[in-house]
Amino acid sequence: MTTIDPPSSGDSPGSPACRICGTPFEPFISFGRQPISNAFLTVADFDSEFFYELRVGACPACRMVQLAELVDPKMLFHEAYAFFSGTSKGMTDHFARFADSLRQQHLGGRDPFIVEIGSNDGIMLQHFAHDSMRHLGVEPSANVAEVARAKGVRTICRFFDESLAREILDDEGPADVIAAANVMCHIADLHSVLRGVRLLLKPAGVFIFEDPYLGDIILKTSYDQIYDEHAFYFSITSLSRLFAMHDMEIVDIDPQTVHGGSIRWTVMHRGAGRASPRVPAQFERERAVGLDRDETFADWRGRVEASRRDLLDLLGKARMDGKRIVGYAATAKSATVTNYCGIDRDLVESISDTTPIKQGKYSPGMHIPVRPYAEFQAHPPDYALLFAWNHADEILAKEQGFVANGGRLIVYVPRVGIVP
Ligand code: SAH
Ligand code: TYD
Repeated sequence: MTTIDPPSSGDSPGSPACRICGTPFEPFISFGRQPISNAFLTVADFDSEFFYELRVGACPACRMVQLAELVDPKMLFHEAYAFFSGTSKGMTDHFARFADSLRQQHLGGRDPFIVEIGSNDGIMLQHFAHDSMRHLGVEPSANVAEVARAKGVRTICRFFDESLAREILDDEGPADVIAAANVMCHIADLHSVLRGVRLLLKPAGVFIFEDPYLGDIILKTSYDQIYDEHAFYFSITSLSRLFAMHDMEIVDIDPQTVHGGSIRWTVMHRGAGRASPRVPAQFERERAVGLDRDETFADWRGRVEASRRDLLDLLGKARMDGKRIVGYAATAKSATVTNYCGIDRDLVESISDTTPIKQGKYSPGMHIPVRPYAEFQAHPPDYALLFAWNHADEILAKEQGFVANGGRLIVYVPRVGIVP
C-alpha cells in the first residue's frame, strides 16, 4: 500500500489534478517528507515506517485547497486508530450542544432518523441513543466504533460512500439529517460521498457538517492543520462549486471555535431551502481575506517559514539555558510541526498525552517518546510545548498549578511565544 495517485491531469503530466474538477494545479508549499500523523510506533516499527511528501495547492479553477498526494485511507483508519474524540472535555461539551441543536432544529418530526459519517467513539450519537431516537453511525476504524457500540450507539464499521448510502436507504429508509464532523475534509472521493448523501437524504432533509476552516488556517498561520488525514481545506468559494455539481446548495454557515476555527455548513437539495444572509456575507469575507487569489497562499508560505524559524530559535535558546521541554498532547497536528521543523528528542524530551493507545509509543517520524500525563504531573518540565493549542483554554484551566510553580507554555499559533 502506498499513496493514492491523483486523477490524471491529461495534458500536464507533472502536476497533480484537482480531485473536485480535474484541473491541474501547482502546490504552493511542501512540508517535505512526512510520516502517518496518527501512527504511533514501537521501536520495532521504526525501520518500516511509511513516509510521503506533504504538499498542498489550490485548484486554479474551482479554488479547492487540497493535498497533492494522499495516503491510502486503509493505512489511516483501521482497528488501531489513535484518535478518540472523547479525549477532551471541550469537544465532549461541543458535541452535546451540536446534538441538542440538531434535535431542536431538524429532528422534530415523527420518528426522525439521523445518520452520522465518521461517528468515532459515539461522542455525538450517544445523545440520540440515550433518547432512543433512530440513528446510525458510519465509522471505519474498528476500535473506536467498538467504543461507540459499547455506549449503545448503532454503528456500521465501513467507509461511507455511494454504495453504502444505497444499502442504508434500502435497509432503513431516508434520513432527516446526515451529520459529519471533521471527516468530510478527510475523504478523497467527495463525489461518491455526495452522490450517497443525495440518495439518502429526504427531500427536505439537511446535510450538516463541520471542518477546520481554511480562512482560520490562513489568518492564524496554523499550518499544523495540514497533515495526511486532511485531504481538503474548505472555503465557501470551493464548497459552493462542489455542491452545485451535485444539485445541492449551502443554505447556512455557522462558525465554530473548535479545532482552531471551524465552519459548520448546512446543505440542502437545490431549491429545498432559503439561503441565510450569512451565505453571501461569507463570500464577501473570503474575498476580503483573498482566499480566491494565489498571492494569498504565496504570502502565507513566507509566514509559515518564519514561524518555523521563530519556534526553533525559542526552543534552541531554552535548551541552551538548560531548560526541560515536554510536548503537551501527541496530536496529529504535532506530526507536521515536529517533522517540518526538525524537532527531535534533544529539543523536546517527551510528549505527554492522556490517550492510552499512544502512551509508551513513539511519535511519528521524530520518534519522541509519548508518556502518560501522570509523568508530566510527577516531573513537571520548565516548558510545555502546546501541541493541542486548540484546547488552550481547557489546558490552561487544568494547569494552573503548573503555572503557579513557574511552568510556562510555549505556543506557535497564531504566533510563536511563551504564555502566560
Ligand atoms: N467526528 C469525530 C471524529 C473525527 S476523526 C470528531 O469530530 O471528533 C475522523 C473520523 O472519520 C475517524 O474516526 C475515521 O475513522 C472516520 N472516517 C474516515 N473516513 C471515513 C469515511 N469515508 N466514512 C466514514 N468515516 C470515515
Ligand atoms: P486534538 O487537538 O483533538 O488532536 P488532533 O490534532 O489529533 O486532532 O487533541 C487531542 C489529543 O490531545 C489527544 O491525543 C489527547 C490529547 N490531550 C491531552 O493529552 N491532554 C489534554 O488536556 C487535552 C485537552 C488533550
